[in-house]
Amino acid sequence: MEFKRQVSPSLLAADYAYLGDAAIAAESGGAGSLHVDYMDGHYVPNISFGFDTIPALKKRVKIPLIAHLMISNTEERLTDFIELKPDYIIIQEDTVKDPPQLLARIKEAGVKNGFALKPDRPLSLFYETLYTIDYLLILGVFPGFGGQKFIEETLDKMRVAHAFRVEHNLSYDIAVDGGVNKSTAPGIIGTGVNVLVAGTAIFGASDVKKAIEEFLAL
Ligand code: DX5
Ligand code: ZN
Repeated sequence: MEFKRQVSPSLLAADYAYLGDAAIAAESGGAGSLHVDYMDGHYVPNISFGFDTIPALKKRVKIPLIAHLMISNTEERLTDFIELKPDYIIIQEDTVKDPPQLLARIKEAGVKNGFALKPDRPLSLFYETLYTIDYLLILGVFPGFGGQKFIEETLDKMRVAHAFRVEHNLSYDIAVDGGVNKSTAPGIIGTGVNVLVAGTAIFGASDVKKAIEEFLAL
């Protein structure tokens, strides 16, 4: 099975006074999707976007919007996010009692589903769940802020996740989020994963299109 390589710029690192321009620059620069980090100031010590960000972005870009929910009350807020109809909803599995149940709710609502694993969370708890998702998000940093240093130990989890989807003929995308840049990307891509989520490396660059093209050329 072929897994299309794509870059998913994380708006968290964009200029908040120009989010629409950043989204358009990412899309025209060749991004395969846009990564929208929702942070509640409780699950992580940072606060990012509001609900209205998704409909506002939909008016500006056509590429898929991926809502990554770094919030403590995922269960309570899930319906609000489903109603915004992002293309994907990625939950932090460590914030819910029954991840498969929430992942099913997302899917039944016609939204693509996935879950995110913090660096200290084992993939082995979720082998069964991997059969039911569209997208696995492996965090290369502890969530909260962009621009952190990539945690090398997470590479092994990426290798296992890729080997699992090949062995079981599963089609979920594997994305890596956090600390992805020109020096860490080759090792990450070497594990077999196919989606690079990058904030600082793209929106911190002087030329967004060039930064995306460099990732795609790796
Ligand atoms: C978790 C966030 C960040 C952000 C990208 O904190 O999800 O990983 O998207 O961060 P950088 O700037 O490292 O690409
Ligand atoms: Zn994220």
